[in-house]
Amino acid sequence: MDVSIVGSGYVGTTIAACLANVDHQVTNIDIDEDIVESLNAGESPIHEPGLSELVSEHAGDRLTATTSYAGLPETDISFLTVQTPSREDGSIDVGPLKTAAEMTGAALADLPEGKRHLVIIKSTVTPPHVDTITDAIYGAVPADVADRISVAMNPEFMREGSAVEDFQSPEKMVFGTTDAWATDRLKALYEPIIETQDPDLVETDPRTASMIKYANNGFLAAKVSLINDIGNICKEFDIDGYEVADAIGLDDRISEQFLRSGVGFGGSCFPKDAAAIVAEARESGYESLMLSAALDLNEHQPGRLLELVDDHVDVNGKRVAVLGLAFKPGTDDTRNSRAVPVIEELRERGADVVAYDPVAVSDMRERYPNLSFTAADSAREALAGAHAVVVVTDWDEFATLDEEFDEMATPVVVDGRRTIERREGLFYEGLTW
Ligand code: UDX
Repeated sequence: MDVSIVGSGYVGTTIAACLANVDHQVTNIDIDEDIVESLNAGESPIHEPGLSELVSEHAGDRLTATTSYAGLPETDISFLTVQTPSREDGSIDVGPLKTAAEMTGAALADLPEGKRHLVIIKSTVTPPHVDTITDAIYGAVPADVADRISVAMNPEFMREGSAVEDFQSPEKMVFGTTDAWATDRLKALYEPIIETQDPDLVETDPRTASMIKYANNGFLAAKVSLINDIGNICKEFDIDGYEVADAIGLDDRISEQFLRSGVGFGGSCFPKDAAAIVAEARESGYESLMLSAALDLNEHQPGRLLELVDDHVDVNGKRVAVLGLAFKPGTDDTRNSRAVPVIEELRERGADVVAYDPVAVSDMRERYPNLSFTAADSAREALAGAHAVVVVTDWDEFATLDEEFDEMATPVVVDGRRTIERREGLFYEGLTW
């Protein structure tokens, strides 16, 4: 099929490369000329395992990029993968996506005679905003063309760090459509994946599809907060929260996944999506209790980590090491990383913060320019002379630290991710164990 992808951020680029890889002809449309140039030069504008290889393999052949919408009506399907940034109250700003939807609709005024076109909303938008975006598309095309355009909501569940793999072998696909033709087109588009991976297919309407995405992320975020809450209680009673989690995970109804308690969740999805659906529900008159609590608890975890530091050392005027800046291991993404509040709270206490992360320092500097810390080139360098160390990201390399602790001024280790083993010679505190 001929596919247009409007927006070449994280999701757009991954989908483009993966669809080109299963023999579709893909055109990325982005207003950012640098992104277009880099895609056409065969370079992925984002870092994701396996993505650079796919982009360089297909660029200039099955994958091209442009700033123009002119070719869009000649294609069969277009994806809207434009970002929906958060506003102050947690709700999403659909402005950029709406503009892209209008541009797409306007371009479709030139849909060739006899041709039908499917617009797929891939960006995460709340159920009411599915209507906003759908209206924006239809509002921009003449009535005679509108009959030949379908709009579908097809949410994405891929994770950072394994996006390519997740896209290529999904557990489920959710097709939110209003007509059978659109559902058939989605099935035809994903046929190579459906045939080989046999994912569960959920066929529903667009607003329900949107809610499924929010419920999925909300549920997982709440699961993390629930195990953090339970872990906090365990800590009060001097019980190992991980031993408890391992045991409850044996119950199929609970499952062992997403039971790692600690300093909380971050990233571009969980905090944003949970806040967005809470804000949208509030707007409509319902005050969420559970999802709000999940978000609140997540905000409190860094403070608990710091209280454990306080139990051992007054950090005012002292050097404190922070290990990990990325929101999770395997990525350089620091969006909503728990390292941000941890460093802020350490600074408020007057600490001199030295942070180490194998890949995320520059992303942190770029996104949070006011966050004040010194970057170390290694964990060893960060630990040298420190009066305490807090572990924020569970990078594997932290698990093998050993004699590096000998170089600390006082070996106070406060672990927010159960990465470092408790041992002789350390004043070790686990956040929930
Ligand atoms: C998530 C969803 O998993 C994915 O389906 C969706 O499309 C986007 O959001 P991602 O943000 O890449 O993906 O990260 P994920 O691996 O799910 O982790 C999210 C956060 O939860 C991380 O900060 C991680 O450290 C934290 N987490 C996860 C825990 O604290 N404990 C756990 O047991 C699992």
